Amino acid sequence: MSDQKMPVVLLHAFPLSSAMWQPQVDALGNEYRIITPDLPGFGSSPVRTASIAQMADDVAAQIHEPVVLGGLSMGGYVALAYARKYPLKGLILADTKAEADVATGKANRDKMIAFAESHTAREVIDSMMPKMATTPAAVEQVRALASKQSPAGIVHAVRAMRDRPDSSDVLPMIRVPTLVIVGSDDQLTPLPVAQSLAGRITGARLEVIPGAGHISNLENPAAFTEALHRFLRSLSQDVARVICRSAGNTSDTEV
Ligand code: MLT
Repeated sequence: MSDQKMPVVLLHAFPLSSAMWQPQVDALGNEYRIITPDLPGFGSSPVRTASIAQMADDVAAQIHEPVVLGGLSMGGYVALAYARKYPLKGLILADTKAEADVATGKANRDKMIAFAESHTAREVIDSMMPKMATTPAAVEQVRALASKQSPAGIVHAVRAMRDRPDSSDVLPMIRVPTLVIVGSDDQLTPLPVAQSLAGRITGARLEVIPGAGHISNLENPAAFTEALHRFLRSLSQDVARVICRSAGNTSDTEV
């Protein structure tokens, strides 16, 4: 029955929309209740000014129970802001980082804002593309998804990312099972960044997606989905063990 499925919320990257999660929804939607909100200004969500923390509050307003929450890149920034304030059952941080922008990063955000104010969304994504996606299929999907977004939404999101606070202090407070994912060829948040992120979260597991750049769920959907599925299955098994123990069975036998 659908409401007995484990709810899993996945937050999209910039400048895409919830539609980027289609491969994972297709593969895992029968087993899990996968919820993919559009962040403000993207997909069906109206353009408005919202900080990364406000985006997390928006997500919290749409769900009414502790969930497994995942985010890729900008979605990961929002997931960490969420983890600061709201209870979770599990956390997935893909191709993302905890640190705020450094001064040069903020200056680059200002340049991107100026560019987006006088160009189309398609021109914006093409200027970013080499760092976003590498396989021809993913390049095409990222371009198609980003081209549908409004330049105004893009400008608001770039401001929100530029002004986001450092989330490093949240990492030692995370007490739920956590999966860190990174594309093997991610140039924006490369492997050492993912290793550092995972290293600061108790018990976090790190999965490297082979042959994948930054938008790793589209670059190598099969491997990404498999890593996600492995993690979600391990959470279900943890729940099953607790049920097993509370039913009087003290062994670790999975049910
Ligand atoms: C993203 O993929 O969401 C962006 O690259 C994140 C960023 O620009 O910091």
